[in-house]
Amino acid sequence: YDYDLLVVGSANADLVIDVERRPGAGETVLGGDLAVHPGGKGANQAVAAARLGARTALLARVGDDGHGRLLLDSLRTAGVATAGVLTGGAPTGVALITVDPSGDNSIVVSPGANGRLTPGDVRDADRLLRTSRVVSAQLEIPLETVVEVVRRLPEGGRFVLNPSPPRPLPREVLAACDPLIVNEHEAKVILGGAAAGDAPEDWARSLLAEGPRSVVVTLGAEGALVASAADADEARDGDGEGDGVEVARVAPVRVDAVDTTGAGDAFTAALAWRLGTGATLAEAAGYAARVGAAAVTRRGAQESFPTGAEVGAP
Ligand code: RIB
Ligand code: NA
Repeated sequence: YDYDLLVVGSANADLVIDVERRPGAGETVLGGDLAVHPGGKGANQAVAAARLGARTALLARVGDDGHGRLLLDSLRTAGVATAGVLTGGAPTGVALITVDPSGDNSIVVSPGANGRLTPGDVRDADRLLRTSRVVSAQLEIPLETVVEVVRRLPEGGRFVLNPSPPRPLPREVLAACDPLIVNEHEAKVILGGAAAGDAPEDWARSLLAEGPRSVVVTLGAEGALVASAADADEARDGDGEGDGVEVARVAPVRVDAVDTTGAGDAFTAALAWRLGTGATLAEAAGYAARVGAAAVTRRGAQESFPTGAEVGAP
């Protein structure tokens, strides 16, 4: 393999304003100075993985403009291979972000060039797909582009999806996920009312029944859940549920949140990379939780991601 991780996804310029509180409809509030950060869920994942030490490539599309150059600069500085970052077709994607005093954010994304990343672009990147150990994606690019990625996964290729922003997904995509990584909101949209109960454990089981080989449910300050089909022995001793599903808790890593932007992307990237090295889902999620926690202690998305040395041994 040439790459530990190939990310297929978005690249955005994040236009960020700190606010005391968000405006309601018809209301104007004054905020702090504008900050422009390199972001986008795809580029964020790629930068996060590269900073941890993974050999990483990105397939994405930016505009032929200043924001596009900001993104390319950030990717190259982190050591991401950018031959798959295509240029032109529309302005670089933009995310308008407000961050409140608790570090929580609200985001509106204009996809711009991300919306022009086509299935044809995926076909042209066949070599990248065939030489990458793990492929990860999100949903800030057209769904048909993600479908094409799934269809072109090489034999034995591993696919990781964070369906954000969420939408109902075709079975073909769900069945390729190993794992599907969702928060509570994303789980509900994917399940579309098909959740068997109210507890996160129930969502994890319901999601697995939709086809993924494994599922991770992130629970913010409560940590995460990992779920997969148990092997034959475990299915017999099991956790008493007798449904052949093994669910484990991943403990939260407590930190003071400054800016949560991009922390989920860092979590996904770290997890995808570790899985490719042979870590179990629970091991990879434990490491990813440390990476995500480090990212919330600093401002911005890509600039806030830790190096492998900062996080410590996996
Ligand atoms: O997940 C965080 C990212 O979401 C931001 O960087 C922003 O660009 C939006 O895509
Ligand atoms: Na951050």
